[in-house]
Parts: sequence; C-alpha cells; structure tokens
Amino acid sequence: MTKNKNNQAIWSTRIKKNASTLFKKVGNSIDVDKKLYKEDIEGSIVHVEMLFRQKIISFKIKNKIIYGLNKIEKEILKNKFEYNKKYEDIHMNIEKRLFQIIGEEAGYVHTARSRNDQVITDFKMWIRSATKEINKNLDNITKTILNVSEKNIETIMPGFTHLKNAQAVSFAHYLMAYVEMFNRDKQRFSNNTESLSENPLGVAALTGTSFNIDRNFTTKKLGFKKPTNNSIDTVADRDFVLDFLYSVSVCSMHISRIAEELIIWNSDGFNLITLSDKVVTGSSIMPQKKNPDLLEFIRGKVGSTYGNLFSMLTILKGLPISYFKDLQDDKEIVFKSNETLNNCISILNEVLKNFTPNKQKMLALANSGYITATDLADYLVKNHAMSFRKAYEVTTSVVNYAEKKKKKLSELSIDELNKIEPKLTNDVLKVFDLKNSVNSKKSYGGTSFDNIKKMIMKYKKT
Ligand code: ARG
Repeated sequence: MTKNKNNQAIWSTRIKKNASTLFKKVGNSIDVDKKLYKEDIEGSIVHVEMLFRQKIISFKIKNKIIYGLNKIEKEILKNKFEYNKKYEDIHMNIEKRLFQIIGEEAGYVHTARSRNDQVITDFKMWIRSATKEINKNLDNITKTILNVSEKNIETIMPGFTHLKNAQAVSFAHYLMAYVEMFNRDKQRFSNNTESLSENPLGVAALTGTSFNIDRNFTTKKLGFKKPTNNSIDTVADRDFVLDFLYSVSVCSMHISRIAEELIIWNSDGFNLITLSDKVVTGSSIMPQKKNPDLLEFIRGKVGSTYGNLFSMLTILKGLPISYFKDLQDDKEIVFKSNETLNNCISILNEVLKNFTPNKQKMLALANSGYITATDLADYLVKNHAMSFRKAYEVTTSVVNYAEKKKKKLSELSIDELNKIEPKLTNDVLKVFDLKNSVNSKKSYGGTSFDNIKKMIMKYKKT
C-alpha cells in the first residue's frame, strides 16, 4: 500500500508539483465546511459499518476506524482539532487525522466512496437539521405574535391599501397576517425535506461502485428515505440547495415587509407604535433621535439572501453534470443565508416583544379618511334594495358632501344624509362606528373580534 505521508496531500503520489500558492490559499474550503464535521463523522461511521456488514472490510478495521472517528469528534468538540488548509476541506482533514490516530488502516475508510458523494451526504444532513432549527425559530416568533395579538383583539386601527386609509381593522388581525406568512414559510421548509430525503452516499465519484455495498442500510441509518436513483445526477444535483435558498429568501422577504411596516408605523408621521429603548439606537449628532435600526437591519438583509439564491442559480447555469469545483461555493452561500435568516428571525422576535401600540393614535387615524364608506354602501345594499354599484354611487355623494363640509362621516346628521338619500333613517348612523364596522366582517378570515379569537385559539392549540 502506498504510504500516506502526513503533511502531504492525499494525491501527492500522483501530482508531483505543489499547487499554485495562491490557489492553495484561496481554493481550500476548510474555514467554511468545518461546520460539517458532525455529519461527516456520522456518515463515515455508518459507511464503515456498512462496509463491514457487506464483508468489504474486517471487524477489526471497522472498529479501529470508528474509534478514531469518535476520538476526532471529541477533539473537535474540545477545540483541540488542528484544521489544516493544506488538506482543503473537512473531509480530508478528518481523514488525515484518522491516519495519525490509527495508522495505515485509516486508508480503508474511503473504500467505495468519493468526496463527491460524501460532501452531498453531509450537506443534505446539515440542511435537514438547519431546516428544523429555522422552523423552531419560526414557532417562537409565532408564539410572540399570538401573545401580542391576544392583547390587541379590540385595538382598532386603519387597514391600508396603497398606504391610504381603506377599512377599519383589528390590530390583532393585522398581526395575525404575519402568522400566516410564517406558517407558509414553515410549510415551504418542510416541503424541502422531500428533496433532502434521498441518500447520495454510495454513488461514489459519478458512476457508482464495483463493491457490493448496501445503500439501503446507509439510507436507513442516516435518516434518509431512499437512495438516489442516478449516480451522475446525484453528484451534480444541487436542487436541494436552491430549494433551501429560495425558502430562506421568501422568509426573509416576509421579514423585510413586516419590518418596513413597523418602521412606517413607528415614524413620526404615523406614530402608531412606539419601540422600546431596547430596540432602537441613537444618533451621533442628533441627541433626540431614537432610530429603528434593528428593523432597518432586517429589512435590508433580504438583499443578501436574494443575492445568495442568485449566486447559486448562476453557479449552476450551464455547468455540465457530475462534480466540478464550482460547486464548492454552495456551502458558504447556504451557511451565510442560514445564519442571516436566523438572526433576522430572532431580531424581529425581540422587536415584537418590545413595542407598544399607540391605541389612541390608531383609533384617531382610523376615524379619518372616510374609512366607513364601504360599510355605508353595504348597508344600502342590505337595507334599501340597491345594487352594490348604485349604493357605491350614493356613498360617493355622501363622501363628497362630507369632504366639502370638512366633516367626518360620523359627524353628518340624518337630515344631511337624507338630502342625498331620502330613504335613510337614524339606523344608518351605526355603520359609522368603527367597532361595528370591524365586527361586521364576520366572513371566514375576516377581521371580526370573534373570528380573531377563534383563529388565535386555533394557532395556540397547534
Ligand atoms: N470540498 C469539495 C466541495 O465541497 C469536496 C468535493 C471534492 N471533490 C472533488 N472531486 N474535488 O466541493
């Protein structure tokens, strides 16, 4: 057997000259992919267990390798492992260390395996746990939103379209919209576990292997559902990476929209919420300032998560199938997107725990802008046998009149209303009450207090 000299690349027996110094410096990925150590060791242990069961390696060698791998894991956990850029990546660093610990028998660990299938196996397993972690964080933020919502069922604010007052809405209903967004995110991440459930291990470099391996065994042991079908596709496939990056992008986009909305509400122009001192920063020159930097930070971060998705899409464009070095960047991209998203979720959660709605201000704003105009039109349809279009026309006349008189709809007298529509009676005045307006939206998914209470209960139970 070829001596595996420490200090030298695995392929030093074949490639006699040192690689370009610059490439050695920038082409390695150990600083990034060392995050995969746990999955790499787990994958290698299961791989050698399989090799032994299939009588490809002996009991003694299998045990020695497993002993070495466990020792390496402990070293890494205790920060005693020396990562070496010379060995490129986490897979080679671990294999090199295995040689130092157990000697030449370490050379059996890579039987019937290539780094090409090894790295995707590790990576899929890593993304699988990252996905679970993200969904846990999304659960935490949902809990916070439910808590704030519960306290604000009867807090009335204007619902906006085009940022103009549209119809009155419960503040809780507004917040519960965020729960729906995060729920879809969770579902999107969960759906990805399908593309993560196929086991790449055993396809080796690109064609499979002549060894009598058992891919079903490694599939089961490593928590996959089935082995991948085509060895070439397996080493080329990074669709699962795109799925993850896309899901991160959509979730960050949701966070960005929420952040923007909170920034607007917190602005001096709107003043609908007040952020506590815990979640604002000051200015270096303007002593009075309390700026919503945390929200701006998370609003902006969607830029890099979209960027990461596009980096990966671009790397894959036109790349022939099977493995190419181009693919190495996938991990840095995913790790960054994952970290950014988790930070954004946690920061948003902190902000949502540290603000107060300015209820008076919300109500006052909701009382402006003829916000109950639709309620009047609906009332006319229901009580005076008008088509909606006719009722819309009558309501327009009422709004135009109120505007001319500089009055709110609720300030109009029945006499004034009768000049426009003689059929109206005193009963109509109740439609200008915001609480009535909100509560009248009883259709499923609407903003009535009862609906919101039920929805909060439903989410609290799940
Ligand atoms: N560190 C490499 C990567 O992440 C591992 C795959 C190496 N395979 C190869 N044929 N050079 O892409």
